[in-house]
Amino acid sequence: MTTAPLNIAIAGLGTVGAETARQVLDHADHIASRAGRVLTLTAVSARDASRDRGFSMDGIAFEQDPVALAHRDDVDIVIELIGGDDGPALDLIEAALEGGKSVVTANKALLAKHGARLAVLAESKGVHLAGEASVAGGIPSLKMLREGLAANRISRISGILNGTCNYILSTMETTGRDFEDVLKEAQDLGYAEADPSFDVDGIDAAHKLALLTSIGFGSLPDFDAIDITGIRSVSSIDINSAANIGYAIRLLAIAENRDGNIVASVQPTMVPLSSGLAKVDGPLNAVAVEGQPIGSVIAVGPGAGAGATASAVLADLVEVAAGRAAPFFGCAADQLKPASNNGSADYTARFYLRLTVYDRPGVLADVTAVLRDHHVSVESILQQGRAAEGGNGTVPVVLTTHDINNSEMTAAIREIKSLDAVTAEPTVMIISGEG
Ligand SMILES: NC(=O)c1ccc[n+]([C@@H]2O[C@H](COP(=O)([O-])OP(=O)(O)OC[C@H]3O[C@@H](n4cnc5c(N)ncnc54)[C@H](OP(=O)(O)O)[C@@H]3O)[C@@H](O)[C@H]2O)c1
Repeated sequence: MTTAPLNIAIAGLGTVGAETARQVLDHADHIASRAGRVLTLTAVSARDASRDRGFSMDGIAFEQDPVALAHRDDVDIVIELIGGDDGPALDLIEAALEGGKSVVTANKALLAKHGARLAVLAESKGVHLAGEASVAGGIPSLKMLREGLAANRISRISGILNGTCNYILSTMETTGRDFEDVLKEAQDLGYAEADPSFDVDGIDAAHKLALLTSIGFGSLPDFDAIDITGIRSVSSIDINSAANIGYAIRLLAIAENRDGNIVASVQPTMVPLSSGLAKVDGPLNAVAVEGQPIGSVIAVGPGAGAGATASAVLADLVEVAAGRAAPFFGCAADQLKPASNNGSADYTARFYLRLTVYDRPGVLADVTAVLRDHHVSVESILQQGRAAEGGNGTVPVVLTTHDINNSEMTAAIREIKSLDAVTAEPTVMIISGEG
C-alpha cells in the first residue's frame, strides 16, 4: 500500500456514528485493502464526552464543538452523523468543504434542502460530498441510479423508503391491529421515534424521494413539489378491504416523468399482492427504477439501523479515500435543471375510497350521484356497514372505481366532503397496477 494514509473524523456517535466508528476501528485492515490506503480515526464529536460508545477513545481526540473537527490539521475527511437540516450538522459540513475536506453524510433532510448548494461548494474546492446512506440505508440506491443505470433514460422511480411505515403497515396486515397500537409497538421496538411525525407523515420518505428524483432526472432537489400523504389515516378496514381484492397497502414514494413533467408523490397506495413491493415486509426498503434500455430493476434491503446505515457510510468513505467518488448528483451540480413539476399533471388510475357517513337512507345514493356527476365510474362497493362505528351512528362506506381521471376524482371528493352525512375526512388511495 503506497498511497499516504488518511485521517478521518466522525461527528455524532449515536446509532449510526458509533457503529461506523466501531467498524472503522475493528475492520481497519479490510477497509484499508478496499480503499487502497490506511484510514485512521483521529477525532470525534458528540454532546456527551463521558458516554460509553462501545469502542475505546484512547488516542482519539474529542471535540465538544463538531465544527472544530473541520479545522483540525489531523483530519482529512469529515463524516457527519449528527442529523438535522440546519444547525451544527450544516455548520460542520460547510466548514469542512470550505476548508477543502471531503464530507460523508447520512443526512437526507439536510441534503434535500441544501444538497445542490453544498455539492457546488464541494466541486469548487475539488473535494467530495457523499451521501449514499441518506436514502434507503444499506441499499446502494443512489449509486445504482447514478452509476449502474447512468445511461438509462429514467421514466419512473418508485420505492418503499421508510422502514417505520412499512413495519406498521405490514404488521397491521398480518395481525389485523390498528395503526395507533402498532405504532406504539414500533416505538417500543426502536423502529419508530418518540415523535414519529417525520416518518408516519411521509416527510422522511419525501426527503429521500427528492434526492432520488434529482439524481434520476438530473433536476434540482425539489422537496416542496412533492405531494405528501402519510399513513395516519390508514385503518384496519382499509387493510382488510385491500386484502379482499388482492392488494396490500404500502407507503409508496413515486416520481414519474410524464411528458417531460416530473410528478412526485408519497402516499399510501394499494399494490397487487403478487407484486415485488407487496412482498417487502417489516422494516425493509425497496427502490424500483424503470428506464430504457434496462426495462425495470428493483433493489430490496435493510433501509435503516446501525449496521445497514454504517455499511453505506463506509462504502462512501472507501470511494472518497480511493479518490473515485462520483459527483453526488451524477453530474456537475451547477448543471442541474430546475425541476419541471406542476404537481397536478393529469393521470388515470383506479381509486379506493372509504367514507364515514351517518347510517341513514339515501346516503349511498347521494354519494354515488356525486361520483356519477364527475364521471367517476364505481367498480364495486366493498362495504356498506350497518354496525355503528364508535356508537355515534356512523358506518363506513368503502368502494373502488374503474380507471378514471385524477382531477375528476379530486373534484368528486371535494363535493362528497361537503355532504351533510359525511362525518370525517375521506380516505383515498390509488390502486396501482404496478409494483
Ligand atoms: N438511525 C438510522 O437508522 C439512520 C438511517 C439512515 C440515516 N440516518 C441518518 O443518520 C444521522 C444520524 O442518525 P442517528 O440515528 O445515528 O442519530 P442519533 O442516534 O440521534 O445520534 C445523533 C448523534 O449526534 C450527536 N449530537 C447531537 N447534537 C450534537 C451537537 N450539537 N454536537 C455534537 N454532537 C451532537 C449526539 O450526541 P450524544 O450521543 O452525546 O447525545 C449523538 O451521538 C441522521 O442524519 C439520520 O437521519 C439514520
